Amino acid sequence: MPQTAVRRIVILTGAGVSKESGLDTFRDPDGIWSRVRLEDVATPAAFERDPARVHAFYNARRRALLCGDIAPNPAHAALARLEAEWPGEVLLVTQNIDDLHERAGSRNLLHMHGEILKARCQGCREVTPWAADMDGDTLCPACGRAGTLRVDVVWFGEMPFEMDRIFSALEACDLFVSIGTSGSVYPAAGFVQEVRMAGQAHTVELNLEPSEGHSRFAARHYGPAGRIVPEFVERVLEDGW
Ligand code: APR
Repeated sequence: MPQTAVRRIVILTGAGVSKESGLDTFRDPDGIWSRVRLEDVATPAAFERDPARVHAFYNARRRALLCGDIAPNPAHAALARLEAEWPGEVLLVTQNIDDLHERAGSRNLLHMHGEILKARCQGCREVTPWAADMDGDTLCPACGRAGTLRVDVVWFGEMPFEMDRIFSALEACDLFVSIGTSGSVYPAAGFVQEVRMAGQAHTVELNLEPSEGHSRFAARHYGPAGRIVPEFVERVLEDGW
């Protein structure tokens, strides 16, 4: 058992961790925001203006996620293994709205940008598991109203979920690892700075290429997540950091 046995780990993941599973990132040259303007599909104003378009965007992504070709990759599996085998606490904070971390076995997981497999009623506020398409006529299963359902994801201009728990964990952690995120969207992009200001935690970036905030990390490893995350987890479980 490593000397660091009781130490706390916080992992932040972004779209890059799901890329090798077949899901597109946002800001890479072939990314989602190269095909559609986020102002048209991922803001409260877009939903007010054209709910059908917003529903169609998320319906297509939900169908792709559930089509049967998408599965967790070795990076997801390694993070589930870390949670299972590390004697201290591992909190996984993801910006991803897919369910690949869950499918790989991660349990101590916060979806700060919500989940595409949930629907939220803007009338009664109930959140419901959701695997089907959604449109302006879909009835809320809780209150029965039509036209009040939206996908339970966080749009630009909205407050991410679970921020109190996330900031407490960042302040108390001993290791912070950022994986597969470009570091261009706050508040997640500011987590490394938060950790550094709070104390002595070690900070690591694992990404295909240096992110916008790469210089804030004490250690950096670059390559595909499916290779470098399992290598990193193996090292941490063997030797700590
Ligand atoms: N392995 C590791 N990293 C990868 C891989 C890979 N196979 N492929 C791409 N990446 C890296 C890219 O180099 C990039 O730095 O993943 C990062 C993905 O960045 P973004 O597309 O900006 O995704 P993310 O950081 O998750 O975006 C944050 O922006 O639009 C919003 O709400 C959306 O949650 C998302 C947020």
